[in-house]
Amino acid sequence: MQFQLTEEHLMIRNAARDFARQECLPGVIERDEHQKFPKEQVLKLAELGFMGMMVDPKYGGSGLDTVSYVLAMEEISKVDASVSVCMSVNNSLVSWGLEAFGSEEQKQKYLTPLAQGRKDGELYIGAFLLSEPEAGSDATSQRTTAEDKGDYYLLNGTKNWITNGSSASVYLVMAQTDASKGSKGINTFIVEKSWPGVVVGAKENKLGIRGSDTHSILFNDVKVPKENRIGDDGFGFTFAMKTLAGGRIGIASQALGIASGSYELALKYSKERKAFGKELMQHQAIQFKLADMATRIEAARLLCLKAAWEKDQHQDYALSSSMAKVFASEVAMWASVEAVQIHGGYGYVKEYHVERLMRDAKITQIYEGTSEVQRIVISRSILK
Ligand code: CAA
Ligand code: FAD
Repeated sequence: MQFQLTEEHLMIRNAARDFARQECLPGVIERDEHQKFPKEQVLKLAELGFMGMMVDPKYGGSGLDTVSYVLAMEEISKVDASVSVCMSVNNSLVSWGLEAFGSEEQKQKYLTPLAQGRKDGELYIGAFLLSEPEAGSDATSQRTTAEDKGDYYLLNGTKNWITNGSSASVYLVMAQTDASKGSKGINTFIVEKSWPGVVVGAKENKLGIRGSDTHSILFNDVKVPKENRIGDDGFGFTFAMKTLAGGRIGIASQALGIASGSYELALKYSKERKAFGKELMQHQAIQFKLADMATRIEAARLLCLKAAWEKDQHQDYALSSSMAKVFASEVAMWASVEAVQIHGGYGYVKEYHVERLMRDAKITQIYEGTSEVQRIVISRSILK
C-alpha cells in the first residue's frame, strides 16, 4: 500500500490550486451575491482540460484518472463550489455516463464537445435530469413519460432542481417508458436544449452555491429520436444509479474542498487575530478545534481517494463513494460552522469567505442523494 501521489497528480493539484486562486477567487463574493453563473471560469476550466478530465483523449478528454479528478475538485471547491459543481456534473454524471454506456455515434456527436466544454468556440456543457417535483430520493417514481412512437419517443414532464439548467446545451433525461415495469421501464435520453418543446423554467434563489444555475426544465411533446436513447430499452434507472456512484465521488470531493478551504481560512485567521494578549491559536480551545478539523478532513480525504482509487482499479466503488459522500459532507458542514466560530463576528460577514463556505456546505448533504440515502445504500450493502 502506498499513500503517495505521483508527479502527475501533484502537477494537476497545483494547476487546480493556481486556477482557483487566480481565476475563481476574484469576484467570487459578487457572483454569489448576484447569483451569476461563472461562465468565464468554466470556459477557462475547459481550456485546462478539466471539463472532461477522465474522458479518453480520442473523445476530446484529458485521459486522467479519478484520483486526479478528486485532487482538482478539492482545490477548486476550496474557493468556489459553484464552479466545482458545474465541473462535477459535466465530468462525472454527463461525460462519464456517455463514455461508459453511450453508442459510438452518441460519443462522437455529444461526448466529444462536452468533454472539451466547448463547441464552435462557445460553452458546451451537460446536465443530468433525474429529480422531479415528486421524485427526489424516491427516484424510481418517475412521472416524466417517454411514449414509444415507433422511430421516436414523445417526452412529457417536469424535472426539478437541475444544475447547469440554463447553461447546458445537452440534457441526459430519465423518463418512464413503461410504468408496468417499474424501474425497469425507465430510459435515459440525450435531449438537446434547443429542441421544440423544451422549456427552461424559473431559476432557483438558493442558500448556497448561488453562482450555479439551478432550474426546473419542462418537456412538452418533445420528439426524441430513437438513436438518442442510452443503452437497451429499460436500462435508464441502472444508468442513473451507476452514474451517480461516480458522481458521488465528485460531490464528496467538493465537500472535502469546502471543509479544507474553511480550515485553511480558520488556521490563517487564528494566527493573525489576537485576544487576551495572544494570538487565537495560542488558546487551547482554538487549537483543539483546529486539530479536530485537520483530523476529520484527512479522514474525508482518504475516503474520497479510496473511492477514486477503486474506480480507477475497475473495482466496485458504490459503497466507498457513498461512504465518502456522507462523511465528507458532514465534515464540510461541521468544519465550515467551526470556521465561522473561529472568525467570531468577522466570520459572519461576506469579506472573510467562511460564511459562504458554510452556506455552500449544506447542499453537499442533499444533492446526488441525501445523507439518509447514502446511509440506505451503505446499510443495504453491509447487510447483504
Ligand atoms: N448500480 C446498478 N443498479 C442499481 C444500483 C447501482 N448502484 N442501485 C440500484 N440499482 C438497481 C437495483 O438493483 C434495482 O434493480 P432490481 O429491481 O433488478 O433489483 C433497481 O435499480 C431499483 O433499485 P432499488 O430497488 O434499490 O430502488 P429504491 O427505490 O429502493 O431506491 C435509492 C434506491 C438508493 C434510494 C435510489 O432511489 C437513490 O439513489 N435515490 C437518490 C437519487 C439521487 O441520488 N438523486 C440525485 C439526482 S442528481 C443530482 O442531485 C446532481 C446534483 O445535484 C449536482
Ligand atoms: P425528498 O426525497 O423529499 O427528501 C426529504 C427528506 O426526507 C430528506 O431529508 C431525505 O433524506 C428524507 N428521506 C426521503 N426518503 C427517505 C427514506 N426512505 N428514509 C429516510 N429518509 C428519507 N437533481 C437532478 O436530477 N439533477 C441535478 O442536477 C440536481 N441538482 C440539484 C441542485 C440543487 C441546488 C438542489 C437543491 C437539488 C438538486 N437536485 C438535482 C435534486 C436533488 O438530488 C434532490 O433534492 C435530492 O435527491 C433530494 O430529493 P428531494 O429534494 O425530493 O427530497
